[in-house]
Amino acid sequence: MPACLICAAPVGDFISFGRMPIANGFLMPADFDREFFFELKTGYCERCHMVQLTELVDPSKMFHDHYAYFSSISVRMAQHFASFAGMVRERYVTAADPFVVEVGSNDGIMLQHFATAGLRHLGVEPSANVAAAARASGVRTVCRFFDEEAGHEIRKEYGAADAFLGANVICHIPDMHTLIKGVRALLKDDGVFVFEEPYLGDIVSKASYDQIYDEHVYYFSLQSLTPLLAQHEMEVIDVLPQTTHGGSMRYVVAKRGARPVADGVAALRERERAMGLMLPATYQELRRRIEKSRDDLVSLLKELRAAGKRVTGYGATSKSTTVTNYCGIGSDLVEFISDTTPGKQGRYSPGTHIPVVPYDRFVERYPDYAVLFAWNHGDEIVAKEQAFRKAGGQFISYVPNVHVMA
Ligand code: SAH
Ligand code: TMP
Ligand code: ZN
Repeated sequence: MPACLICAAPVGDFISFGRMPIANGFLMPADFDREFFFELKTGYCERCHMVQLTELVDPSKMFHDHYAYFSSISVRMAQHFASFAGMVRERYVTAADPFVVEVGSNDGIMLQHFATAGLRHLGVEPSANVAAAARASGVRTVCRFFDEEAGHEIRKEYGAADAFLGANVICHIPDMHTLIKGVRALLKDDGVFVFEEPYLGDIVSKASYDQIYDEHVYYFSLQSLTPLLAQHEMEVIDVLPQTTHGGSMRYVVAKRGARPVADGVAALRERERAMGLMLPATYQELRRRIEKSRDDLVSLLKELRAAGKRVTGYGATSKSTTVTNYCGIGSDLVEFISDTTPGKQGRYSPGTHIPVVPYDRFVERYPDYAVLFAWNHGDEIVAKEQAFRKAGGQFISYVPNVHVMA
């Protein structure tokens, strides 16, 4: 059995999704025969409670100079990060001449709000193409992976940080101990580490298994973060649930004893206990629900196909890589996936090689059904696709179970 990445205890898998390619590895036909695969499988550590991948992909295979995901592609996410930045400024960045660091700052979607306010800031972003986009919009960015050494170096060059931020990136970093040491080294004594990631409680309650892919090494909960942070003399001082990315949790962390702990922390601890997040049986049950979701989706798509309906995919998300590969959905069941990201268009979905086409192709000739692979942006998408629905089109979702959306 592999060793837990956090506490080294042996960790068994509760599910394997089988052979899986790089989730964001949209590719050209010339590269089909050299595509990289690994086994996507997930385990729950009964000792420290961390849900994690039990086979890892080398980060340099995922984050590089042609990383496909540009954060600013979603209007809602842009609004979300404006409000995240506002909350940090109001509550935590109150000292004179503050310094704010963000890891995984991508195209600058959040840090631009500190930049335009004239505050000292630094993005740490290893994917060169998105880092270049951030710099072009005035966000100071270094192109590297954040680790302990980076924490020390940044402190030496810029001074200690008031806030260390991360969104949808902390769970990507395999060596959490090194990361936290780096954060501690960089933060002022009363500095805060604020990060938000897809929340395990939402994944379990919605059976949203498509959150599980190569980049997401960890599926955090308060109960798993608490002992990990305690080892580094840090603690969670507040928890703020978010609706983004299908249900995320924002954790506010400080050095132990440096700041008061909000009541919401104890309340969330109790909710997690009530949900059974610490019971191995919860994950066996989750596996059964995931298998059912797969079987239902494949049956529905086959039925529609047999009835001569046209079905396309909406949003070539990284999450869709898990769904299409695990369910065995190819261009026989989903004609194409439309996506607004220029870098994905004209390429093919990882593993299943479904064509990824510009959004215009969807509008030119509406399909009968569109699988909402970007279900986490569902409100935004359904609101703007009134014409599709007026034309008789329907969305298919698989969260929290497979259904045609009313
Ligand atoms: N924060 C943005 C981007 C999330 S995508 C948002 O929420 O939309 C994850 C980003 O983290 C990618 O841009 C990736 O290149 C970056 N990343 C991955 N590992 C990292 C590490 N060790 N240090 C800093 N950034 C990292
Ligand atoms: P995400 O789920 O990882 O945020 O990725 C969303 C993907 O969906 C991204 O490739 C952009 C695409 N997308 C669209 O094509 N149309 C949309 O309206 C939205 C919100 C996203
Ligand atoms: Zn463990």
